[in-house]
Amino acid sequence: MAIHFELNGTRQEVEPREGESLLSLLRDRLGLSSPKNGCEPQGQCGCCLALIDGQPKTTCTIPAQRADGKAIVTLEGVPEEERRLLARSFVAAAGLQCGFCIPGIVLRTHHLLAQSPDPSREEIAKALDVHLCRCTGYLKLFEAVELAARALRGEVDPQPLAAGGVGEAVARHQGEALALGERPYVDDLRREGMLFGAVHLSAHARATVRAIDTRAAEAMEGVVRVATAADVPGERFHGLLHQDWPGFVAVGETTRCVGDVLAVVAARDPQTARRAAAAIAVDYEVHPPVVDVHEAMRPDAPRVNDRHPGNLLSISKIVLGDAEAALRGSAHRVEGTWRTQRIEHAFLEPEAAFAEPREDGTLYLATQGQGIFDDRRQVAAFLGVPEAEVFVELFPNGGAFGGKEDLSIQPQTALLARLTGRPVKLTLTREQSIRMHPKRHPIELRYEAGCDAEGRLTAVRARLIGDTGAYASVGEKVLRRAAGHACGPYRVPTLDVEAAAVMTNNPPCGAMRGFGVNQASFAMEGVLDALAEAAGLDPFELRRRNVVEVGDTLTSGQRLEKSVGIGECLERLRPAYEAARAAGKAVGVACGIKNSGIGNGAVEHGRTRLRVEADGTVALYNGFTEMGQGLSTLLQQFAAEVTGLPSSRFVPRTDTSFELGCGQTTGSRGTLLSGRAVIAAAEQLRDDLAAGATLESLAGKTYRGEIEITDTHPLGKKVERPKTHTTYGFAAQLVILDAEGRLEKVVAAHDVGRVVNPDLCVGQIQGAVHMGLGHALSEELPCVDGMPIATRLREIGVLRARDMPEVEVHLVEAHEPEGPFGAKGVGEIGLVPTAGAVAAALFAFDGVRRRTLPMKDSPAGRAITVGRIRARIPREEWR
Ligand code: FES
Repeated sequence: MAIHFELNGTRQEVEPREGESLLSLLRDRLGLSSPKNGCEPQGQCGCCLALIDGQPKTTCTIPAQRADGKAIVTLEGVPEEERRLLARSFVAAAGLQCGFCIPGIVLRTHHLLAQSPDPSREEIAKALDVHLCRCTGYLKLFEAVELAARALRGEVDPQPLAAGGVGEAVARHQGEALALGERPYVDDLRREGMLFGAVHLSAHARATVRAIDTRAAEAMEGVVRVATAADVPGERFHGLLHQDWPGFVAVGETTRCVGDVLAVVAARDPQTARRAAAAIAVDYEVHPPVVDVHEAMRPDAPRVNDRHPGNLLSISKIVLGDAEAALRGSAHRVEGTWRTQRIEHAFLEPEAAFAEPREDGTLYLATQGQGIFDDRRQVAAFLGVPEAEVFVELFPNGGAFGGKEDLSIQPQTALLARLTGRPVKLTLTREQSIRMHPKRHPIELRYEAGCDAEGRLTAVRARLIGDTGAYASVGEKVLRRAAGHACGPYRVPTLDVEAAAVMTNNPPCGAMRGFGVNQASFAMEGVLDALAEAAGLDPFELRRRNVVEVGDTLTSGQRLEKSVGIGECLERLRPAYEAARAAGKAVGVACGIKNSGIGNGAVEHGRTRLRVEADGTVALYNGFTEMGQGLSTLLQQFAAEVTGLPSSRFVPRTDTSFELGCGQTTGSRGTLLSGRAVIAAAEQLRDDLAAGATLESLAGKTYRGEIEITDTHPLGKKVERPKTHTTYGFAAQLVILDAEGRLEKVVAAHDVGRVVNPDLCVGQIQGAVHMGLGHALSEELPCVDGMPIATRLREIGVLRARDMPEVEVHLVEAHEPEGPFGAKGVGEIGLVPTAGAVAAALFAFDGVRRRTLPMKDSPAGRAITVGRIRARIPREEWR
């Protein structure tokens, strides 16, 4: 039956579909793009906010029928002048990164400021409580709302800096369009005749598939095609390092995790597609899953993945000197086992892909992946066609943090488009997203360490075992990185480190911001605190005596030749540390180091093209992914710095028009590699301009920027001067607790080489600290029999706005000669030391040494308003 309502002042008459939410009605039928689908039907991220009869509501929880008779306002319906002013406020305050959560928050701001024109921080935090932001750490959102309030009161006119060079706070590329929801993400794409896809996942982490019956799904009205393994014309298995991950599990095979895809459906609307996917019947022979790393390593353990014998993906070893003898000879010696948890990325935009057959026989694929050239290679192989037959374009990425390196549903979406000859869009639900993509590794870390009577480290012996789950992903590299950073930014003369990546039927683990280094840091910082206690030294002083300087050697064996700012980072913290101690506050300190670039012997590329367009702009093509970290803006600034042109003249693009494959956007390397490549191309353009050419006269000309790094060595390689990574970022952080042991303040000092954009840089660090506090206190993704037992965003434990303490950032510049204008990556290191600093502060508060994450049982953990897992998915509802 038709319903009637008013949408942004216009009367609507619509007949709702069975199972249709108001959000789906607004987006899929009425074409709005400001309400985003982050977690339908959970109502926990706030991205789908609308005003219903004047009240802010999450529309993904409301059945479409309930819109009958209502007046609905979305961000599109706010008066244009106010919309622009709000958007400018968010951009000027650097209050957005990936942007996916922002339209909902902008609408919330409109509503809040109408009620309270001069809100306090507490009011703002309370108003934002419904909203989740995984990128910003909320602090710049608070500033944006305050700026918007002043602007609406007529006190200021927010003017984001439109253009500038290195060192300037240039506004984020496309910031206003992102803030208003006008720049489409993949899930915003629509085409005439487009079909909607849905997946059927394995109900069991380990079960042999005896039969898949798709007849009921195929018989449903509106279903156009169902596809299974039998429909794959090319290579069914894909993977970044190992071809061990099937796009579909076939009949007769055994599943490896609950994220395995058994079938996909294409239908006329999303509701029909999901109902049909659920109607697919699978006959399983269920086997007990392997879910414990120690069980998995037993000789008689079932094999998780045929392609990896013994369930052992990799072992990384570093031995330097005789650690046993050095430990025996140490004045002080400590040992213990630290444990870290599985963590979900919780990027706000679930995986979505769009594929469309083109008239010339090729296929267009819109992706949000972290490496579009890897996406193209793997999708083309899956379809059994040459890569030239697949054109891939990157769309704004609503957060990734490492979780979108591996393929998710790009190949299945491409296949459905090929099979139907029609455009197809497939978007995962939040639960499916959590089941499918790789997580942060849970790692068990056993450490023994010693120091001399003055507190100088003598030796570390460490054994790390990481649960890498069902597929290789990049798990071996994560554990290798953990091994190479096992001793943090400290001078340790004698080492014996071993890190194993072990396969289980748990969800796969792979890249996540910090890439194994956070886990090692948590253990090593705990070691230092225990040694400080044993040696009777202040923990700050113990660190000062041991942090590396130029000329020292890292855990990986690399001698540091340049750009080591950890000593200065520590000194920047000293006044706050001493003031907190003098005030009787519990305070903890920790240090961190994180590589920039993959290194370890990999040949790495930065590739760009600058093409002068007829309209006087310069298209800036690069092979890495903008995912909220600000890469596009930084590349514009580098190009502007070199050429003297306004940065806004350079228009970032990422697609497969040019062969710019550089691998994944990972390892804090986008700025380092693409930055240098942009400089190389921009210098040629600059020379042409200096010779008298104009942009108009250069229209059509393309400048090539290619750099290659070939001088790093594999971990453990016996060479005279091993260089495992091009460069490293350094950080030191303080965590200060209040009188009840709750988070009060974080002070973060970071050596970033060169500050390219101060606002974006501070925003990256604040956002990373937010993620680090969740790592420390509230976030986890426990599984039972390989199935995540909580897939609701609140239960996963991401800190909300009201939980976030003040984060004071100090930027240190230890110039990096191999970086663009001296810069080095800052994407990951912001959360490397955080958990260690929290643990140290908690010990200072109550004398309890905590070695297991998350520290939910602590006073600071209990004060976090999220993170309690209440609802479990009943076993009988797994499907
Ligand atoms: Fe908020 Fe990315 S900017 S989730």
